[in-house]
Amino acid sequence: MKILLVGNGGRENAIANGIYNSPSFINSKSVLYTTIGNPGLDKISTPIDIKPAEIDKLVLFAKKENIHFTVVGPEIPLSLGIVDAFEKENLKIFGPSRKAAELESSKIFAKNLMKKYRIPTAEYKEFNSGNLKDACEYLMYSKYPLVIKADGLAAGKGVIIVNNYAEAKDVITDFVDNKVFGDAGLNFIIEEFLTGFELSLFVITDGINYAALPFSQDHKKIGEGDTGKNTGGMGAYAPADNMIDKDIYENIMMGIIEPTLQGMVKEGRKYKGCLYCGLMITEKSPGALQPYVIEFNARFGDPETQSVLPLIKSDFLELLLASAEEKINEYRLEVYDKYSCCVILASAGYPEKYETGKIIQGLWNNSKDTFIFHSGTRYSADKKDVLTNGGRILSVVALSDISMEDSIKNCYAEIEKINFENMYFRKDIGFKYKKSINK
Ligand code: AMP
Ligand code: GLY
Repeated sequence: MKILLVGNGGRENAIANGIYNSPSFINSKSVLYTTIGNPGLDKISTPIDIKPAEIDKLVLFAKKENIHFTVVGPEIPLSLGIVDAFEKENLKIFGPSRKAAELESSKIFAKNLMKKYRIPTAEYKEFNSGNLKDACEYLMYSKYPLVIKADGLAAGKGVIIVNNYAEAKDVITDFVDNKVFGDAGLNFIIEEFLTGFELSLFVITDGINYAALPFSQDHKKIGEGDTGKNTGGMGAYAPADNMIDKDIYENIMMGIIEPTLQGMVKEGRKYKGCLYCGLMITEKSPGALQPYVIEFNARFGDPETQSVLPLIKSDFLELLLASAEEKINEYRLEVYDKYSCCVILASAGYPEKYETGKIIQGLWNNSKDTFIFHSGTRYSADKKDVLTNGGRILSVVALSDISMEDSIKNCYAEIEKINFENMYFRKDIGFKYKKSINK
């Protein structure tokens, strides 16, 4: 088989690793291609010089090279209709169609779907550049904090929590007058602020049936104790399933995942691929937890994927194929009884200004049951060194058979071996898990 993976971040490194180690990939002597690649991906795949959003070129490449199966990592090509373009040419592909991917690419579509199918989510109101006066009036008489969300894709930056009217007014001025997110912010929602703890869930679905992967928890803030600016994610751990009990688990599957998939079918937007459900588990009354959807994404999450995929024991490539071939009911998901922790190594200064081009040392001698997935890396001109090339550089993942604490310890021990100038990482990944088991 020839497999094409679209994307080249830490998430795609974890997906590539999962595919590369699948028995079905190994036994059929398959090959993997990745769009653009990077020094980590290049160890297991052949880089091709086409960007993820160059859909026409990717279709031509897949036809010319007889690619058997394509897997899409990032949201942009999905929102541009890569799945529709491939399927039109009878090319097999993993991911949702453009209309289904609107669950991520339009927050207004997602919220309206949840409202229609009674899927628990924060209360909200929808506004646009044409009714700013109404938005201001609404903001004037609301209780704070509130959350303002750009409708369209904004590289994870379009969600802003505001504490008073002045802040809120500045945000909508930025969205509408200053167009900080281009057209993506011209429509927006104002949403109730929920409190609780967040969990991420990936379900792999063929539109009807689904396989739920272990829950995970992201750490979005740059600073320890979840302080400071939002980032693309500074670490994750999995499974986070013991943060919830059986009733909440059932509630999430029956009250959120199933009505979402069924609703999408009813809307003529059958959802195939990975549905990422970002959840807030709130305490409605003392001791009574209730899950709410914070967001849907039309793809795997970063960095949760790096912690979740190494836990999958059954054939990962077959899981992705089962989604595309609408055979999820025939697939038996098996998961290792292990614990996984992922810590992101970043350039100091990220998510604001940072330097790049620093030599990374200690990359290739990782221990058993650890993984180093590359995000922002590149080769030096003479190809002898690997250099930093972004804000988030590496995802270091360690597993443990014993406990989450042990996987966290193994992860930080692995990080000791790696070094580059101005390396920054959070030292407290998993702190909420620890709190939950100590309580
Ligand atoms: P999103 O991009 O929609 O996941 O939002 C980014 C982050 O903003 C989430 O992970 C939450 O931490 C926070 N957030 C989004 N919506 C809400 C909400 N309604 N209440 C509280 N926090 C929220
Ligand atoms: N971990 C958040 C995201 O992938 O959107």
